[in-house]
Amino acid sequence: MFSEHHKLEKNLFLLLVFMVIVSSIGAIVEIFPLFIKEVAIEKVEGMRPHTPLELAGMEIYKREGCYGCHSQQIRALRDEVERYGHYSLAAESMYDHPFLWGSKRTGPDLARVGGKYSDEWHVQHLIAPRSLVPESIMPNYKFLADAKLDLSDMQKRLKVLRFLGVPYSDQDIEEFQKDIKIQLGMITGQDDITSFSKRYPKTVIRKFNAKSEEITEMDALVAYMQALGNKVDLKTNRGRDW
Ligand code: HEC
Repeated sequence: MFSEHHKLEKNLFLLLVFMVIVSSIGAIVEIFPLFIKEVAIEKVEGMRPHTPLELAGMEIYKREGCYGCHSQQIRALRDEVERYGHYSLAAESMYDHPFLWGSKRTGPDLARVGGKYSDEWHVQHLIAPRSLVPESIMPNYKFLADAKLDLSDMQKRLKVLRFLGVPYSDQDIEEFQKDIKIQLGMITGQDDITSFSKRYPKTVIRKFNAKSEEITEMDALVAYMQALGNKVDLKTNRGRDW
């Protein structure tokens, strides 16, 4: 076979054809299996869809372009893992449509920011970042604290997400307004809380923006921040060994 190799090396066209064939085999073996969901997304326990309040927060995160300065993906590199925590698992963003991994880190990665700070810290930081971190270049988002949360298209969003494969039940979609009030501690019936916690396990229930009686955009955004990266128990679900 190798005695004929000079023919390949002397004929540019033939060489090109063989190069394409060889690279295609590599692509088929390395890349195509990742298109199968079951291969790319590891099975983990504890992952749940966003609550309607968190989903509203995610919409504000997108609207305000937070992803332009913040990524939400910790890579499997030592410096990242030491700074931000366990590297991100594919399963952790499987209910995000679109996912918000981002590619720019003007500010820190937020994939595991949930539970890192108190609600008061987040509210104050969003109102006036420089009051907490003097050298910060993050913009002020003071208006979020007073802006009433618009939920007019939430039901449609939940339906579309279900269509895309996020496991929202009929109850999740029909009673989303009640669920928002339960998560904010505005409905305190034990049966309601039990039903909510069963459908959205380990969700924190409290008023995130304590400064306002109303349901504000700040409530939604802080609820979203506090739920980032702490759903999967990473002691038992470590993902793949790299
Ligand atoms: C112009 C870039 C920029 C934009 C836009 C931006 N941030 Fe930031 N953010 C930063 C920088 C820089 C820091 C680090 C300094 C600080 O803590 O303020 C930061 C810090 C943070 C932190 C603290 C992270 C940590 O682990 O300490 C959170 C939370 C945060 N931003 C949320 C948001 C949210 C939510 C939005 C959108 C409403 C947003 N940021 C928009 C630049 C930005």
